[in-house]
Parts: sequence; C-alpha cells; structure tokens
Amino acid sequence: MRDKIVAGNWKMNLTFEQALQLANDVNTWVAENKTDAKVIIAPSSIYLQAIQETVDEQFVQVASQDVSNAEKGAYTGDISAEQLDSIGINTAIVGHSERREYQQETDEVIAKKLEQLFAKDITPIFCVGEKLEEREADKHFEVVKTQILNALNPQQVENLSKLVIAYEPVWAIGTGVTASPAQAQEIHAYIRTVLKDAYGEKIAEETSILYGGSVNAQNAKEIFSQPDIDGGLVGGASLKYDDFVQIIAACK
Ligand code: PGA
Repeated sequence: MRDKIVAGNWKMNLTFEQALQLANDVNTWVAENKTDAKVIIAPSSIYLQAIQETVDEQFVQVASQDVSNAEKGAYTGDISAEQLDSIGINTAIVGHSERREYQQETDEVIAKKLEQLFAKDITPIFCVGEKLEEREADKHFEVVKTQILNALNPQQVENLSKLVIAYEPVWAIGTGVTASPAQAQEIHAYIRTVLKDAYGEKIAEETSILYGGSVNAQNAKEIFSQPDIDGGLVGGASLKYDDFVQIIAACK
C-alpha cells in the first residue's frame, strides 16, 4: 500500500509567530480528526527545530524545503543532510522548480542532493514537472522522464523504496491554473511506467506520487481520487488553515 500524503510547502512565507501558530493549529486538527493522509509541513529552515518541537510527529511531520548537495564544509548558507538528521528531520523537498529556476539547480545537483538524503535515511519529496512551453510542444512526457532518470539513475536502487515523487507542472504552480484531473492522472501513470521500466514493478507500485500546482480546497478531492495520485504538494493553500485542513480531509 502506498502512503497517502498531503505536504504543505510554505516556501518563504510566514513570520516565526505565524508559523508556530499555523503548525500548532494543523497539529490540533490532525489530532482531533481521523485522517488517511500522512501530513507534512515544510517551513523555512530557520523555523524547523521550533516547529519540530511544537508538533507531535505522530500527527504532523516536519520537512526541510531543500538540502545541500555537499556532505559538509565550506558551503556558506547551506544545510546538510547530516544537520537535518541531527535535529530529527526525516523528510526533505528536493528539486522544486523554483530552485531549478532561481538557483539554477541541474538534474546532476539534484541527484547529489538525493544521495545526501538517502545516506542519512531522510525521505526525499523529489519534484519534477514541465514548463508551459514544453507542455505546449507536447514534450512533457520526455521532460519528466529525463528529470527522473537523470536524478535517480545514480542512486542505489534499494534506496528508491524511500522515495516520494511530486509531479508539479511549472505552469500550474502559484498560477491558479491546475492540471485537469485527467491530465494529472495521465502523467502520474506515465511516471509509474518510467519507474517500472527503469527500477522494477515493486518500486513503481510502492512509490507515492503527489500532484502539485494550485491544489486548493475545491479541486483537491477530484485530483486525489485519481488512481495514480497519492496526495498533494500544496503551496499557497497550505498557508491558509481552513483550506489546508480541507485538503487533508479530501485525501482518502
Ligand atoms: P502552489 O505551489 O500550490 O502554490 O501552486 C505548489 C508548490 O510549488 O509546491
């Protein structure tokens, strides 16, 4: 059985006080409501430890938004997998399209980040997705396949059982435009085929594949009901308590 997951990617939002309040509220809601989905929140790194101490990990897990591709040393501003592990963080988003775009992260860098996370037994939420012009040129399957194989081929296959993938079409992130449930299902099923051909049936069947890109309280249920969609990576709507808990409730 694949895990159902709803992960909130808070990006560079919220003051410390707001972040603690939201984490606390989400934790209370999950504690009081029976949820099928595993709930994850990814605050800015400066809040990780405080939020980790605020929530109960049986209800809400705390994830990093990124990790360094290096193990340790003179990398000013970076945070290593070992450092995340040392404060008990066991999940990290990797390869988000905003980092691919604004920090020029390549597939090779992302592959190294995955290696660092696997070495510390941290679950990666590995993001892939095509840009608008690639979708319009009908290249989305090819783009996503290349992103997956470039990042995962260097990994040891036994580590891939820890992987979570998030399919996030860049044209749907923060735009209010969502992939239709059918479009999302089509590419999620395709991702499973790519995983099966490259790494075998077991990895393909057991990897949770999340959809991301303008998921909200209104569209979550239909998106999550698709057979190959195992939950969502939620940006903007994860900052609003009412919307986020409705999205969690929609993930069954
Ligand atoms: P969004 O962001 O829900 O605001 O579109 C999703 C993401 O970037 O993970």
